[in-house]
Amino acid sequence: MTIAKEVFGHIDGEIPVYLYTLKNANGCEVRIADYGGIVVSLTVPDRTGKPSDVVLGFSTLDEYLKGHPYFGAIIGRYGNRIAKGRFALDGVAYTLAANNDENHLHGGLKGFDKAVWQAEIIEGKEGQSLALSYLSKDGEEGYPGNLSVKVVYTLTEDNELKIDYEAKTDQPTVVNLTNHSYFNLAGEGTGDILGHEMLLNADHFLPVDAGLIPTGELRSVRGTPFNFTESTAIGARIDSDDEQLRLGGGYDHCFVLNQGGDQLTLAARVHEPTSGRIMEVYTDQPGVQLYTGNFLDGSNVGKGSAAYGHRSGFCLETQHFPDSPNRADFPSTVLRPGETYSSCTIYRFSVR
Ligand code: BGC
Repeated sequence: MTIAKEVFGHIDGEIPVYLYTLKNANGCEVRIADYGGIVVSLTVPDRTGKPSDVVLGFSTLDEYLKGHPYFGAIIGRYGNRIAKGRFALDGVAYTLAANNDENHLHGGLKGFDKAVWQAEIIEGKEGQSLALSYLSKDGEEGYPGNLSVKVVYTLTEDNELKIDYEAKTDQPTVVNLTNHSYFNLAGEGTGDILGHEMLLNADHFLPVDAGLIPTGELRSVRGTPFNFTESTAIGARIDSDDEQLRLGGGYDHCFVLNQGGDQLTLAARVHEPTSGRIMEVYTDQPGVQLYTGNFLDGSNVGKGSAAYGHRSGFCLETQHFPDSPNRADFPSTVLRPGETYSSCTIYRFSVR
């Protein structure tokens, strides 16, 4: 089996964008575009062996180019929010685009999700891989330093989509990379995700203010609707009378992983009871943002011609904490010349 490469479309009628199809021998297939490193589709079997596409997305490049809420994309240079688009590093103040009301979100106006990456096909021992490289120039979106980034997607024979991130800089900067896939384990376009049962390996989460910026508090999940330390349906408490759920319009919060920030550990396990599909998320990052598609409103029509309604997909974005550049007490997101940023996240699929 070799990785197939086809034209997905063109930007401004001239720059070609390619779509790569990675397959394994166990019924999994992933299609990735070199535009934004977008995971366009991810097909995995259910408990009877029937395959379904479990990520939200479009069938054409043009729909991605028209703008969308980061479906499947690589997010950078800084995933999540930086308050007021401002931070200081080594005494120098930097101003970034305010593209989310007064705050900076997901790398700015033209983040890594809108870049054309240079692709390299790798047929390795672990499975098929696609390496994507991008040079984010000094000053891009207001960030200091030339940052060379490499993201390697691997589809393993164990039905894992593994994402390895690496970055190097020539000036001190901040980096927080993630992937923004929206999952629906019953299949994209089949309705909301409220019946999915979720376990999060997190005893604490980060409460936010009205702009979804962390207040700085690490709050215990005990006795709150944020307690997913035992597997619970996403929808069981999502509409309960809770200040934090009101601010997020549902879950839109970073969870503090119990063993996070060092080696690969289980962050989350999600089970969809009708299909039997299970997705486990492993990461070496300190946090994971649970976003339950609260802003999806049916205006995006997906691959299977279904409108993506309210909460029809969920994201588990492995990452450092939001607004870390302004929080000396959060794990650091600073990268300096000579250092290598490296992180790994695995989405592992099985059935029960
Ligand atoms: C954020 C949401 C935001 C969404 C963009 C998520 O990562 O947490 O607040 O609306 O991305 O679609």
